[in-house]
Order: sequence, then C-alpha cells, then structure tokens
Amino acid sequence: MMSDDKRLAALESVKYIKDGMILGLGSGSTVNWMLRALSERIKEGLRIEGIPSSKKTEKLAKELGIPLTDFSKTTKIDLAIDGADEIDGNLNLIKGGGGSLVREKVVDACADELIIIADSSKVVKQLGAFSLPVEVLPFGFEVTVANIEKLGGIPKLRRKENEIFVSDNGNYILDCSFGTIDGAQALHEKLIRLVGVVETGIFSGMADKVIVARNGEIKFLTR
Ligand code: 5RP
Repeated sequence: MMSDDKRLAALESVKYIKDGMILGLGSGSTVNWMLRALSERIKEGLRIEGIPSSKKTEKLAKELGIPLTDFSKTTKIDLAIDGADEIDGNLNLIKGGGGSLVREKVVDACADELIIIADSSKVVKQLGAFSLPVEVLPFGFEVTVANIEKLGGIPKLRRKENEIFVSDNGNYILDCSFGTIDGAQALHEKLIRLVGVVETGIFSGMADKVIVARNGEIKFLTR
C-alpha cells in the first residue's frame, strides 16, 4: 500500500539523524510519518532541534514533543528531510502539492544535506504530469496568470473547499500545467523572473538523496 511505503521511506530517513543536529522538517503526509518516528527517538534520548517548513508541520511537531527552533536562533541546518510530488532521474523535484513550497525551499536550500522521502508513485521519467505549483502575490495575480499563459502554461488558481487557498505566507497558489517539462531549471528561471511570482515548486539540484519505497522495499536514488 502507498501509505505503508510512505511510512517505510520515512522510517529509513530517520536513521540519518544524529545527536545534536539542527533538522529541517519538511511537509506532507510522508514527512508526518518521519515526525512520528523522530519523536520516538527523542523519547529514547536523541537531542535535536527542528525548523518546521509549514504551520501544519509545526503543529504536529509540537504535539509530538519535538523541540523546535527558528531562523532567528540559527541559519544552519544540518539535515532537511522532505517529501515531493514528482522526482525525475536527475533528482529534479516538483513540490508544493500541500502548498508549502516557499517555506520548504527556504528550509531545504539552507540544509547541508537534503533527503527526500517518497513512495514509488512519485518517481517519473519526466516532470510535468503533476501541475507545477507556483506561489504568487494575491495583488494583481490576474496579471501573473496572463504572464504564465504567455510562457505556455495553463495556470489554475488553487481552491480549498470552494475558497481560494491561502498559503502560510498569505499568498495564492497557481497550479500550472506545462505538459512534459524538459528543462526544469530553465522553466523555473523564466517563472521566477515574472513580477508577482514569489517562488516555484521546481526544486532543481537540491536533493542529495532520495529514499523511495516500493511494495515494502527501499531504493536509494542519488545524483
Ligand atoms: C508540500 C509538499 C509535500 O512534500 C508533497 O506534496 C508530498 O506530500 P505527501 O508526502 O503527502 O505525498 O511539497 O508542499
């Protein structure tokens, strides 16, 4: 089952956590399994501090008794563990299915090491079947929509229960279909130059290791 594989990948990732580390805590259901496993190790005496990448992760981490810190205390993260929506053979990622891409990118980008955990459904030959989440300023988002269309994308304003979805940063998310994405970094660079775009869900050249579980077996993808 997919959720068993998410849990298995998460359990494997916790083996890389060492005493004294500052951890980047990603977001999503796979990461939630990692948080549960991490809290068990903390009960056994492991000392770490985590920086959460979303309000949801922060809430669960607090409930699980995981000690937290923030960027006002340290800008150094030893290891970040995060999920992904799509992963290609070069470890380019699409992230942001949960709407946390900006904080995830801030956290993941400043980590010495980034481990991605996923079930095998996330591994693809080429990115793009999953619409690319792009976080945009609410002000004038209609202009940003038009500019993304000029780049060949089909943006769709994300909604949740009929309301416009608002990110932890107070912004909107445009889920953008570009068909198959050939040059992930090039697409990111075009999008990030558009006024109103806060960040894209393309995480290129960031993951150091991907732990994938498929039918109860673990596989490692490395660059
Ligand atoms: C949230 C993310 C998540 O990491 C991604 O959506 C994977 O989620 P899940 O582990 O629930 O499949 O990028 O913004």
